Amino acid sequence: MTAEVAPFSKTGGLADVAEALPEALQGIGHEPMVVSPFYSRVHEGNHRLHRVFESVPITLLGGESFDAYLAEDGRNWFIDYPRFYDREGIYRNDGDEHLRFLFLTHAALELCRRRSWSPDIAHANDWHTGFLPLFLRSTYQSDPVLAQTRSIFTIHNLAYQGVFGAEVAGALSMGTKSYLLHQDHLREGRLSFMEHALMYADAITTVSPTYAREIQTPEYGVGLDGILRYRSGDLYGILNGIDTTVWNPRTDPRIPVNYSETSLEAKVANKGALLERAGLVASPNQMTVGIVSRLTGQKGVELMIRPLARRLESGHITFVGLGSGENRYEQALTWLASTFPSSAHFQQGYDEDMAHLIEAGADVFLMPSRYEPSGLNQMYSLAYGTPPIVRRTGGLADSVTHYDSGSGEGTGFVFDHYTEVGLAWALDQALATYPNRAQWERLQRNGMSEDNSWERRANEYDHLYRKVIGNRS
Ligand code: ADP
Ligand code: GLC
Repeated sequence: MTAEVAPFSKTGGLADVAEALPEALQGIGHEPMVVSPFYSRVHEGNHRLHRVFESVPITLLGGESFDAYLAEDGRNWFIDYPRFYDREGIYRNDGDEHLRFLFLTHAALELCRRRSWSPDIAHANDWHTGFLPLFLRSTYQSDPVLAQTRSIFTIHNLAYQGVFGAEVAGALSMGTKSYLLHQDHLREGRLSFMEHALMYADAITTVSPTYAREIQTPEYGVGLDGILRYRSGDLYGILNGIDTTVWNPRTDPRIPVNYSETSLEAKVANKGALLERAGLVASPNQMTVGIVSRLTGQKGVELMIRPLARRLESGHITFVGLGSGENRYEQALTWLASTFPSSAHFQQGYDEDMAHLIEAGADVFLMPSRYEPSGLNQMYSLAYGTPPIVRRTGGLADSVTHYDSGSGEGTGFVFDHYTEVGLAWALDQALATYPNRAQWERLQRNGMSEDNSWERRANEYDHLYRKVIGNRS
């Protein structure tokens, strides 16, 4: 169960995972059913969906009912309930945001009942689905269809916890089971979706081993490190994978020229196309730095502006950025582009074609995150022969190793401290290596030969699912 799933509804990496992990699990014999809302953008997306069930009641929410649609893939189910989902966007912070996702949680479970389909595992993702584990242990505990179902909750981003006022508790319709809610926090006036997931899930995962360790510390725990330490025996870090049918420079239909590790010279044509699209003039020896990012405090935008400006000023680099998010970051990148109009470009917005072109056309990909649960773009960059420059945190630490020109080992440039100096150092390491074509191609090939496929990672989930099912009493 998920709030977003590609290609139907996407704001970030969660959607990519919700598409690719179930597909890979299906490949090894699982029968996944992915449930998400029928947002208006799903309606408008020209997908072939079929209405399978009409007016499925959710008795707990005062007799409301929904229709359920199934995609042609036979895997993606959509909860059609216009009152909550017929709105623009996915996350909205409207006054009823908690209800939109509580409805989804109930609807997913009711859909299983309507199908008489008993999943071994209900896999919930991020705060929106946070009450799924508790519902299974309370309201649905003795349900003939769901009594044996165990829950796994995956943290994709601990910073978004879904914390609402205590008055929201009534909407959970838990009746006599309400004592299972976090009583102290209710008394303090708040109710956290994420916290209840961590309290009641049979197992908790997050999307990289390093982030799994980090979130057990006060620095990264966003107030939940205590409960995460308490549950450390049930907490697993499994790095995300990438969908190699979508993110593969050998076959990617969105880029002008396909290439592989044996035809790296063809990458240059993509660089040309990128610079042209960005309206930039660059000499071949200028290294092009790319970013594709949600522009939030997580992503390290404030670190990059000055180091990039200095290197743009000295003519060492060109820059192409794509992203949307907080105003201050959009403004900072817009400033950069307007200050260096012939060598820096920023496109504000969401654009999948441009994201692919940047991955293929840039020379390096910059991702200096303050924290990064997994991160996908650095793995796309590795696959596209575009060495990533990253900060050593979370999934970035687990997927990129610093290039050592002596041994020829390493896949990118990695800095430790979340400072401009750290980022500038890594950028200069890349700039120092870039002119040496033999070294650079070695670095590119090292990254391109990494196996970050979901096939591999799905096996880790498979093991965990079996372990959790095996623990059923
Ligand atoms: P996060 O989920 O924190 O945003 P990830 O690296 O896991 O970070 O995933 C981001 C995903 O969203 C990638 O598939 C990336 O290409 C995509 N993305 C982010 N911003 C944009 C954008 N402005 N345009 C197109 N794709 C974007
Ligand atoms: C979140 C994280 C990102 C992760 C993605 C998918 O958006 O910020 O690091 O890759 O979820 O798990």
